[in-house]
Amino acid sequence: MGDGPGSGRRLTRRSLLGGAAVAGGGLALAGGGYALGTGDDATQAGAGSAGAGTGSVPFHGVHQPGILTAQQDRLHFAAFDLTSDRPEDLRDLLRTWTAMAARLQAGLTADADAGSGLAPPTDTGEAAGLLASRLTLTIGLGPGLFEDADGHDRLGLAARRPRALRPLPALPGDELRADISGGDLCVQACADDPQVAFHAVRNLARAARGIAVMRWSQLGFGRTSSTSRAQETPRNLMGFKDGTNNLTAEDPQAELDGSIWHDPSDRRAPWMAGGSYLVSRRIRMLIEVWDRASLDDQEATIGRVKLSGAPLGAHRERDALPLDRRGSDGKPVIPVDAHVRLAAPEVNEGIRILRRGYSFTDGFDAELGQLDAGLFFLAYMRDPHRQFVPLQERLGSTDALNEYIKHVSSGIFAIPPGVPDIPGRFLGDGLFIG
Ligand code: HEM
Repeated sequence: MGDGPGSGRRLTRRSLLGGAAVAGGGLALAGGGYALGTGDDATQAGAGSAGAGTGSVPFHGVHQPGILTAQQDRLHFAAFDLTSDRPEDLRDLLRTWTAMAARLQAGLTADADAGSGLAPPTDTGEAAGLLASRLTLTIGLGPGLFEDADGHDRLGLAARRPRALRPLPALPGDELRADISGGDLCVQACADDPQVAFHAVRNLARAARGIAVMRWSQLGFGRTSSTSRAQETPRNLMGFKDGTNNLTAEDPQAELDGSIWHDPSDRRAPWMAGGSYLVSRRIRMLIEVWDRASLDDQEATIGRVKLSGAPLGAHRERDALPLDRRGSDGKPVIPVDAHVRLAAPEVNEGIRILRRGYSFTDGFDAELGQLDAGLFFLAYMRDPHRQFVPLQERLGSTDALNEYIKHVSSGIFAIPPGVPDIPGRFLGDGLFIG
Protein backbone atom coordinates (compact mmCIF):
# COMPACT_ATOMS: atom_id res chain seq x y z
CA MET A 1 0.00 0.00 0.00
CA GLY A 2 1.14 3.53 -0.70
CA ASP A 3 -0.30 4.71 2.57
CA GLY A 4 1.57 4.14 5.75
CA PRO A 5 4.15 5.65 8.00
CA GLY A 6 7.42 6.99 6.66
CA SER A 7 9.58 4.20 5.38
CA GLY A 8 12.77 6.10 5.88
CA ARG A 9 14.02 5.21 2.39
CA ARG A 10 17.52 6.62 2.31
CA LEU A 11 17.45 8.60 -0.91
CA THR A 12 17.50 12.33 -0.48
CA ARG A 13 18.26 15.59 -2.20
CA ARG A 14 20.89 16.22 0.45
CA SER A 15 23.58 14.65 -1.61
CA LEU A 16 23.04 17.24 -4.33
CA LEU A 17 24.73 19.76 -2.12
CA GLY A 18 27.94 17.81 -2.01
CA GLY A 19 27.76 16.53 -5.60
CA ALA A 20 27.88 13.04 -4.12
CA ALA A 21 28.28 9.82 -6.04
CA VAL A 22 25.40 7.74 -7.22
CA ALA A 23 23.91 4.87 -5.25
CA GLY A 24 22.54 1.98 -7.28
CA GLY A 25 19.00 2.11 -5.93
CA GLY A 26 17.49 0.19 -8.82
CA LEU A 27 13.93 1.24 -7.98
CA ALA A 28 11.97 1.01 -11.20
CA LEU A 29 9.41 3.80 -11.46
CA ALA A 30 6.04 3.41 -13.08
CA GLY A 31 5.71 5.24 -16.36
CA GLY A 32 9.07 6.91 -16.14
CA GLY A 33 11.09 4.23 -17.86
CA TYR A 34 14.10 4.87 -15.71
CA ALA A 35 15.43 3.74 -12.39
CA LEU A 36 16.40 5.79 -9.39
CA GLY A 37 20.09 5.93 -8.81
CA THR A 38 21.16 5.69 -12.43
CA GLY A 39 22.33 8.11 -15.09
CA ASP A 40 22.68 11.70 -13.97
CA ASP A 41 20.74 11.06 -10.83
CA ALA A 42 22.91 12.35 -8.03
CA THR A 43 21.68 10.48 -4.99
CA GLN A 44 23.14 8.57 -2.14
CA ALA A 45 22.27 7.45 1.33
CA GLY A 46 21.53 10.75 3.04
CA ALA A 47 22.68 11.28 6.58
CA GLY A 48 19.79 11.51 8.99
CA SER A 49 17.13 10.97 6.33
CA ALA A 50 14.95 8.60 8.31
CA GLY A 51 14.01 10.72 11.30
CA ALA A 52 10.39 11.30 12.32
CA GLY A 53 8.75 13.78 9.98
CA THR A 54 11.66 13.68 7.55
CA GLY A 55 11.53 10.19 6.02
CA SER A 56 9.75 9.18 2.85
CA VAL A 57 6.29 7.70 2.36
CA PRO A 58 6.12 4.91 -0.25
CA PHE A 59 4.56 6.15 -3.49
CA HIS A 60 3.40 2.87 -5.04
CA GLY A 61 0.48 0.85 -3.71
CA VAL A 62 -3.17 -0.06 -3.96
CA HIS A 63 -4.31 3.40 -2.86
CA GLN A 64 -2.71 6.77 -3.46
CA PRO A 65 -0.64 8.09 -0.57
CA GLY A 66 -1.93 11.14 1.31
CA ILE A 67 -5.31 9.63 2.16
CA LEU A 68 -4.76 7.29 5.10
CA THR A 69 -1.13 8.34 5.55
CA ALA A 70 -0.71 9.72 9.08
CA GLN A 71 -1.55 13.34 8.42
CA GLN A 72 1.43 15.65 7.89
CA ASP A 73 1.57 19.14 9.29
CA ARG A 74 1.63 21.26 6.09
CA LEU A 75 -0.43 21.46 2.95
CA HIS A 76 -0.11 22.97 -0.49
CA PHE A 77 -3.22 22.24 -2.52
CA ALA A 78 -3.63 23.28 -6.16
CA ALA A 79 -6.42 22.94 -8.70
CA PHE A 80 -5.77 23.12 -12.44
CA ASP A 81 -7.76 23.72 -15.63
CA LEU A 82 -6.94 21.51 -18.58
CA THR A 83 -6.22 23.74 -21.56
CA SER A 84 -6.02 20.93 -24.13
CA ASP A 85 -8.92 18.86 -25.47
CA ARG A 86 -6.73 15.96 -26.54
CA PRO A 87 -7.05 12.89 -24.30
CA GLU A 88 -3.46 11.93 -25.14
CA ASP A 89 -2.27 15.20 -23.57
CA LEU A 90 -4.08 14.35 -20.35
CA ARG A 91 -2.61 10.86 -20.47
CA ASP A 92 0.91 12.20 -21.03
CA LEU A 93 0.52 14.67 -18.21
CA LEU A 94 -0.61 11.96 -15.79
CA ARG A 95 2.32 9.83 -16.86
CA THR A 96 4.75 12.68 -16.28
CA TRP A 97 3.18 13.58 -12.93
CA THR A 98 3.38 9.94 -11.83
CA ALA A 99 7.09 9.73 -12.51
CA MET A 100 7.75 13.10 -10.86
CA ALA A 101 5.60 12.33 -7.83
CA ALA A 102 7.45 9.05 -7.22
CA ARG A 103 10.77 10.87 -7.34
CA LEU A 104 9.68 13.80 -5.20
CA GLN A 105 8.19 11.57 -2.49
CA ALA A 106 11.51 9.72 -2.35
CA GLY A 107 13.25 13.06 -1.70
CA LEU A 108 14.76 13.29 -5.16
CA THR A 109 14.84 16.05 -7.73
CA ALA A 110 11.83 16.37 -10.06
CA ASP A 111 13.71 14.90 -13.02
CA ALA A 112 16.46 12.31 -13.24
CA ASP A 113 18.19 14.37 -15.92
CA ALA A 114 19.72 17.49 -14.39
CA GLY A 115 19.73 19.20 -17.81
CA SER A 116 22.46 21.43 -19.23
CA GLY A 117 23.59 24.95 -18.56
CA LEU A 118 21.94 26.08 -21.77
CA ALA A 119 18.39 25.45 -20.58
CA PRO A 120 16.46 26.26 -17.41
CA PRO A 121 17.23 23.66 -14.72
CA THR A 122 14.87 20.65 -14.79
CA ASP A 123 14.31 21.04 -11.05
CA THR A 124 13.65 24.48 -9.60
CA GLY A 125 16.13 23.82 -6.78
CA GLU A 126 14.53 25.15 -3.61
CA ALA A 127 14.31 21.68 -2.09
CA ALA A 128 18.00 20.87 -2.56
CA GLY A 129 19.32 19.88 0.83
CA LEU A 130 15.85 19.22 2.23
CA LEU A 131 14.73 15.76 3.24
CA ALA A 132 11.66 13.96 1.86
CA SER A 133 9.73 15.27 4.91
CA ARG A 134 6.98 12.63 4.51
CA LEU A 135 5.81 14.34 1.33
CA THR A 136 2.74 12.76 -0.25
CA LEU A 137 1.27 13.78 -3.59
CA THR A 138 -2.35 12.88 -4.14
CA ILE A 139 -3.70 13.62 -7.59
CA GLY A 140 -7.37 14.00 -8.53
CA LEU A 141 -9.57 14.37 -11.60
CA GLY A 142 -12.44 16.88 -11.71
CA PRO A 143 -15.87 16.38 -13.29
CA GLY A 144 -15.01 18.83 -16.08
CA LEU A 145 -12.74 16.23 -17.70
CA PHE A 146 -15.82 14.15 -18.45
CA GLU A 147 -18.28 16.89 -19.31
CA ASP A 148 -17.58 20.59 -19.67
CA ALA A 149 -19.80 23.42 -18.46
CA ASP A 150 -21.84 23.24 -21.71
CA GLY A 151 -22.39 19.50 -21.36
CA HIS A 152 -19.83 18.55 -24.03
CA ASP A 153 -17.81 15.36 -23.81
CA ARG A 154 -14.63 17.29 -24.55
CA LEU A 155 -12.16 14.40 -24.25
CA GLY A 156 -14.37 11.48 -25.28
CA LEU A 157 -14.26 10.10 -21.72
CA ALA A 158 -17.89 10.70 -20.64
CA ALA A 159 -18.84 7.01 -20.77
CA ARG A 160 -16.20 6.31 -18.12
CA ARG A 161 -17.20 8.98 -15.68
CA PRO A 162 -17.62 7.48 -12.19
CA ARG A 163 -21.14 7.76 -10.81
CA ALA A 164 -19.83 9.56 -7.72
CA LEU A 165 -18.07 12.31 -9.74
CA ARG A 166 -20.91 14.68 -10.49
CA PRO A 167 -20.67 18.37 -9.63
CA LEU A 168 -21.94 19.10 -6.13
CA PRO A 169 -25.40 20.67 -5.96
CA ALA A 170 -25.93 24.11 -4.37
CA LEU A 171 -25.88 23.61 -0.61
CA PRO A 172 -27.43 25.68 2.18
CA GLY A 173 -25.26 28.58 3.25
CA ASP A 174 -22.95 28.38 0.20
CA GLU A 175 -21.17 31.67 -0.53
CA LEU A 176 -18.87 30.16 -3.12
CA ARG A 177 -16.44 32.13 -5.27
CA ALA A 178 -16.10 30.61 -8.75
CA ASP A 179 -12.48 31.79 -9.10
CA ILE A 180 -11.36 29.62 -6.17
CA SER A 181 -13.65 26.66 -6.79
CA GLY A 182 -13.66 23.60 -9.05
CA GLY A 183 -10.87 22.49 -11.36
CA ASP A 184 -10.19 19.69 -13.86
CA LEU A 185 -7.26 18.32 -11.86
CA CYS A 186 -6.00 18.70 -8.32
CA VAL A 187 -2.78 18.06 -6.48
CA GLN A 188 -2.77 17.71 -2.71
CA ALA A 189 0.80 18.00 -1.46
CA CYS A 190 1.22 17.25 2.25
CA ALA A 191 4.57 17.29 4.04
CA ASP A 192 6.12 18.13 7.36
CA ASP A 193 8.17 20.87 5.67
CA PRO A 194 6.20 23.58 3.82
CA GLN A 195 9.01 24.24 1.35
CA VAL A 196 9.00 20.58 0.29
CA ALA A 197 5.25 20.75 -0.40
CA PHE A 198 5.63 24.04 -2.29
CA HIS A 199 8.50 22.68 -4.36
CA ALA A 200 6.45 19.64 -5.37
CA VAL A 201 3.42 21.65 -6.52
CA ARG A 202 5.59 24.17 -8.33
CA ASN A 203 7.45 21.49 -10.27
CA LEU A 204 4.27 19.60 -11.17
CA ALA A 205 2.70 22.88 -12.35
CA ARG A 206 5.78 23.59 -14.41
CA ALA A 207 5.61 20.17 -16.05
CA ALA A 208 1.96 20.83 -16.96
CA ARG A 209 2.78 23.87 -19.08
CA GLY A 210 0.84 23.82 -22.36
CA ILE A 211 -1.62 21.21 -21.07
CA ALA A 212 -2.96 22.59 -17.78
CA VAL A 213 -2.78 25.85 -15.86
CA MET A 214 -3.21 26.45 -12.19
CA ARG A 215 -6.70 27.76 -11.38
CA TRP A 216 -6.40 28.31 -7.63
CA SER A 217 -4.35 27.08 -4.72
CA GLN A 218 -4.46 26.96 -0.96
CA LEU A 219 -1.76 26.69 1.67
CA GLY A 220 -2.48 25.06 5.02
CA PHE A 221 -0.23 25.50 8.05
CA GLY A 222 -1.48 23.00 10.60
CA ARG A 223 -3.51 19.83 10.39
CA THR A 224 -7.03 19.88 11.82
CA SER A 225 -7.56 16.15 12.07
CA SER A 226 -5.79 12.89 12.72
CA THR A 227 -5.83 9.97 10.33
CA SER A 228 -4.07 7.56 12.69
CA ARG A 229 -4.80 6.66 16.29
CA ALA A 230 -1.11 7.13 16.98
CA GLN A 231 -1.49 10.87 16.39
CA GLU A 232 -2.53 13.38 18.99
CA THR A 233 -5.67 15.35 18.14
CA PRO A 234 -4.68 18.83 16.93
CA ARG A 235 -6.66 22.04 17.51
CA ASN A 236 -8.36 24.17 14.88
CA LEU A 237 -8.32 27.97 14.86
CA MET A 238 -11.39 28.08 17.10
CA GLY A 239 -9.19 26.48 19.74
CA PHE A 240 -11.07 23.17 19.80
CA LYS A 241 -9.61 19.72 19.37
CA ASP A 242 -10.55 18.63 15.86
CA GLY A 243 -10.44 15.14 14.41
CA THR A 244 -11.33 13.16 17.52
CA ASN A 245 -14.14 11.17 15.93
CA ASN A 246 -12.48 10.74 12.55
CA LEU A 247 -11.94 7.58 10.57
CA THR A 248 -8.36 6.38 10.96
CA ALA A 249 -6.03 3.97 9.19
CA GLU A 250 -6.52 1.55 12.08
CA ASP A 251 -10.30 1.24 11.61
CA PRO A 252 -11.65 -2.14 10.44
CA GLN A 253 -11.14 -2.77 6.73
CA ALA A 254 -14.89 -3.17 6.13
CA GLU A 255 -15.50 0.29 7.60
CA LEU A 256 -12.80 1.86 5.41
CA ASP A 257 -14.04 0.02 2.31
CA GLY A 258 -17.60 1.15 2.84
CA SER A 259 -16.77 4.75 3.77
CA ILE A 260 -13.71 5.71 1.70
CA TRP A 261 -12.96 3.49 -1.26
CA HIS A 262 -14.71 3.51 -4.65
CA ASP A 263 -17.80 1.34 -4.97
CA PRO A 264 -16.94 -1.61 -7.25
CA SER A 265 -20.58 -1.93 -8.31
CA ASP A 266 -20.12 1.23 -10.44
CA ARG A 267 -19.76 -0.50 -13.81
CA ARG A 268 -18.90 2.66 -15.70
CA ALA A 269 -15.67 3.13 -13.82
CA PRO A 270 -13.82 -0.14 -13.09
CA TRP A 271 -10.65 1.95 -13.52
CA MET A 272 -11.43 3.58 -10.16
CA ALA A 273 -11.12 0.35 -8.11
CA GLY A 274 -9.00 1.28 -5.09
CA GLY A 275 -9.72 4.98 -5.63
CA SER A 276 -11.68 7.49 -3.59
CA TYR A 277 -13.42 10.88 -3.90
CA LEU A 278 -12.27 14.16 -2.42
CA VAL A 279 -14.37 17.14 -1.40
CA SER A 280 -12.55 20.40 -0.69
CA ARG A 281 -14.20 23.40 1.01
CA ARG A 282 -12.43 26.59 2.01
CA ILE A 283 -14.34 27.55 5.14
CA ARG A 284 -13.64 31.04 6.36
CA MET A 285 -14.01 31.50 10.11
CA LEU A 286 -15.41 34.76 11.41
CA ILE A 287 -12.74 34.72 14.04
CA GLU A 288 -13.49 38.14 15.55
CA VAL A 289 -17.14 37.17 16.11
CA TRP A 290 -16.10 33.82 17.58
CA ASP A 291 -13.63 35.48 19.92
CA ARG A 292 -16.45 37.58 21.39
CA ALA A 293 -18.60 34.52 22.17
CA SER A 294 -18.58 33.26 25.78
CA LEU A 295 -16.87 29.97 26.58
CA ASP A 296 -20.27 28.41 27.32
CA ASP A 297 -21.56 29.50 23.90
CA GLN A 298 -18.46 28.20 22.16
CA GLU A 299 -18.77 24.82 23.85
CA ALA A 300 -22.51 24.61 23.15
CA THR A 301 -21.82 25.45 19.49
CA ILE A 302 -19.37 22.59 19.04
CA GLY A 303 -20.88 20.21 21.65
CA ARG A 304 -17.55 19.52 23.32
CA VAL A 305 -15.47 20.95 26.18
CA LYS A 306 -12.90 23.36 24.77
CA LEU A 307 -9.88 22.36 26.81
CA SER A 308 -10.24 18.58 27.15
CA GLY A 309 -12.16 17.89 23.94
CA ALA A 310 -14.60 15.67 25.90
CA PRO A 311 -18.20 15.63 24.68
CA LEU A 312 -20.48 17.82 26.83
CA GLY A 313 -21.89 15.57 29.54
CA ALA A 314 -18.91 13.17 29.34
CA HIS A 315 -15.42 13.16 30.87
CA ARG A 316 -12.73 12.18 28.43
CA GLU A 317 -11.98 13.18 24.84
CA ARG A 318 -12.70 9.75 23.43
CA ASP A 319 -15.90 9.10 25.39
CA ALA A 320 -18.93 8.43 23.19
CA LEU A 321 -21.26 11.37 22.54
CA PRO A 322 -24.09 11.12 25.15
CA LEU A 323 -26.66 12.15 22.54
CA ASP A 324 -29.67 11.01 24.61
CA ARG A 325 -28.58 12.38 27.98
CA ARG A 326 -30.45 15.34 29.45
CA GLY A 327 -29.30 17.79 32.08
CA SER A 328 -31.13 18.78 35.29
CA ASP A 329 -32.96 21.45 33.21
CA GLY A 330 -34.41 18.66 31.04
CA LYS A 331 -32.47 19.83 27.97
CA PRO A 332 -30.06 17.58 26.01
CA VAL A 333 -26.51 18.00 27.37
CA ILE A 334 -25.35 18.24 23.75
CA PRO A 335 -27.63 20.92 22.30
CA VAL A 336 -29.86 20.03 19.37
CA ASP A 337 -27.96 22.41 17.07
CA ALA A 338 -24.43 21.52 18.27
CA HIS A 339 -21.98 20.72 15.44
CA VAL A 340 -20.99 17.27 16.69
CA ARG A 341 -24.58 16.14 17.18
CA LEU A 342 -25.56 17.17 13.65
CA ALA A 343 -22.42 15.63 12.11
CA ALA A 344 -22.49 12.37 14.10
CA PRO A 345 -23.10 9.09 12.25
CA GLU A 346 -25.82 8.26 14.83
CA VAL A 347 -28.08 10.94 13.35
CA ASN A 348 -26.88 10.58 9.74
CA GLU A 349 -27.69 6.97 8.92
CA GLY A 350 -24.20 5.85 9.83
CA ILE A 351 -22.43 8.20 7.37
CA ARG A 352 -18.70 8.52 8.04
CA ILE A 353 -16.03 10.40 6.10
CA LEU A 354 -12.27 10.73 6.40
CA ARG A 355 -11.50 14.35 7.29
CA ARG A 356 -8.02 15.60 6.39
CA GLY A 357 -8.27 19.36 6.70
CA TYR A 358 -5.82 22.17 7.48
CA SER A 359 -5.91 25.58 9.14
CA PHE A 360 -5.16 28.46 6.83
CA THR A 361 -4.64 32.17 6.94
CA ASP A 362 -4.30 34.33 3.88
CA GLY A 363 -3.57 37.50 5.80
CA PHE A 364 -5.87 40.32 6.73
CA ASP A 365 -9.05 41.37 4.92
CA ALA A 366 -8.61 45.16 5.11
CA GLU A 367 -12.07 45.83 3.70
CA LEU A 368 -13.78 43.96 6.52
CA GLY A 369 -11.08 44.59 9.10
CA GLN A 370 -10.87 40.85 9.76
CA LEU A 371 -8.36 38.04 9.54
CA ASP A 372 -8.89 35.95 6.43
CA ALA A 373 -8.46 32.60 8.16
CA GLY A 374 -10.27 29.37 8.74
CA LEU A 375 -10.33 25.72 7.90
CA PHE A 376 -9.52 24.23 4.51
CA PHE A 377 -11.78 21.20 4.76
CA LEU A 378 -10.59 18.16 2.84
CA ALA A 379 -12.47 14.88 3.14
CA TYR A 380 -12.20 11.53 1.40
CA MET A 381 -15.20 9.31 0.89
CA ARG A 382 -16.78 6.64 -1.27
CA ASP A 383 -19.49 8.88 -2.72
CA PRO A 384 -19.77 12.61 -1.96
CA HIS A 385 -23.41 12.65 -3.09
CA ARG A 386 -24.34 10.06 -0.46
CA GLN A 387 -22.01 11.29 2.27
CA PHE A 388 -20.88 14.91 2.05
CA VAL A 389 -24.08 16.26 0.47
CA PRO A 390 -26.58 14.97 3.06
CA LEU A 391 -24.17 15.91 5.88
CA GLN A 392 -23.69 19.43 4.61
CA GLU A 393 -27.41 19.84 3.86
CA ARG A 394 -28.04 19.23 7.53
CA LEU A 395 -25.08 21.23 8.83
CA GLY A 396 -25.59 24.14 6.41
CA SER A 397 -29.16 24.64 7.53
CA THR A 398 -29.15 23.97 11.28
CA ASP A 399 -25.58 23.92 12.66
CA ALA A 400 -24.99 26.52 15.39
CA LEU A 401 -21.50 26.89 13.88
CA ASN A 402 -22.98 28.70 10.85
CA GLU A 403 -22.98 31.95 12.79
CA TYR A 404 -19.17 31.81 12.74
CA ILE A 405 -18.25 30.33 9.35
CA LYS A 406 -18.67 30.86 5.59
CA HIS A 407 -18.04 28.26 2.87
CA VAL A 408 -16.31 30.24 0.11
CA SER A 409 -14.75 27.59 -2.14
CA SER A 410 -15.70 24.08 -3.17
CA GLY A 411 -14.21 21.26 -5.20
CA ILE A 412 -14.94 17.63 -6.00
CA PHE A 413 -12.37 15.23 -7.46
CA ALA A 414 -12.07 11.54 -8.27
CA ILE A 415 -8.88 10.20 -6.73
CA PRO A 416 -7.72 7.30 -8.91
CA PRO A 417 -6.23 4.23 -7.25
CA GLY A 418 -2.57 4.01 -6.36
CA VAL A 419 0.03 3.08 -8.96
CA PRO A 420 1.50 -0.43 -8.78
CA ASP A 421 5.27 -0.66 -8.87
CA ILE A 422 5.25 -2.01 -12.44
CA PRO A 423 7.09 -0.28 -15.30
CA GLY A 424 4.72 1.53 -17.65
CA ARG A 425 1.90 1.95 -15.14
CA PHE A 426 0.79 5.47 -14.26
CA LEU A 427 -1.88 7.26 -12.33
CA GLY A 428 -5.36 6.87 -13.84
CA ASP A 429 -4.02 4.72 -16.70
CA GLY A 430 -7.13 2.50 -16.60
CA LEU A 431 -9.15 5.46 -17.86
CA PHE A 432 -7.41 5.27 -21.23
CA ILE A 433 -7.56 1.52 -21.80
CA GLY A 434 -10.05 0.02 -24.29
C1 HEM B 1 -14.93 25.51 9.95
C2 HEM B 1 -15.76 24.48 9.90
C3 HEM B 1 -15.72 23.34 10.87
C4 HEM B 1 -15.21 23.30 12.13
C5 HEM B 1 -14.52 24.41 12.90
C6 HEM B 1 -15.41 21.97 12.62
C7 HEM B 1 -15.03 21.52 13.88
C8 HEM B 1 -15.29 20.28 14.39
C9 HEM B 1 -14.96 19.86 15.73
C10 HEM B 1 -14.23 20.70 16.77
C11 HEM B 1 -15.38 18.58 15.88
C12 HEM B 1 -15.28 17.73 17.15
C13 HEM B 1 -14.07 16.85 17.20
C14 HEM B 1 -14.07 15.70 16.23
O1 HEM B 1 -14.75 14.69 16.41
O2 HEM B 1 -13.36 15.84 15.22
C15 HEM B 1 -15.97 18.19 14.62
C16 HEM B 1 -16.51 16.97 14.34
C17 HEM B 1 -17.02 16.60 13.12
N1 HEM B 1 -17.19 17.39 12.03
FE1 HEM B 1 -16.68 19.31 11.86
N2 HEM B 1 -16.03 21.23 11.66
C18 HEM B 1 -16.24 22.04 10.58
C19 HEM B 1 -16.86 21.69 9.39
C20 HEM B 1 -17.34 20.44 9.09
C21 HEM B 1 -17.95 20.06 7.86
C22 HEM B 1 -18.17 20.98 6.65
C23 HEM B 1 -18.27 18.75 7.95
C24 HEM B 1 -18.92 17.84 6.95
C25 HEM B 1 -19.80 18.22 6.05
C26 HEM B 1 -17.87 18.31 9.27
C27 HEM B 1 -18.01 17.03 9.75
C28 HEM B 1 -17.68 16.63 11.02
C29 HEM B 1 -17.87 15.26 11.48
C30 HEM B 1 -18.39 14.08 10.67
C31 HEM B 1 -17.47 15.24 12.82
C32 HEM B 1 -17.48 14.07 13.77
C33 HEM B 1 -18.78 14.01 14.50
C34 HEM B 1 -18.84 12.82 15.44
O3 HEM B 1 -18.99 11.70 14.96
O4 HEM B 1 -18.66 13.00 16.64
N3 HEM B 1 -17.32 19.37 9.93
N4 HEM B 1 -15.91 19.26 13.74
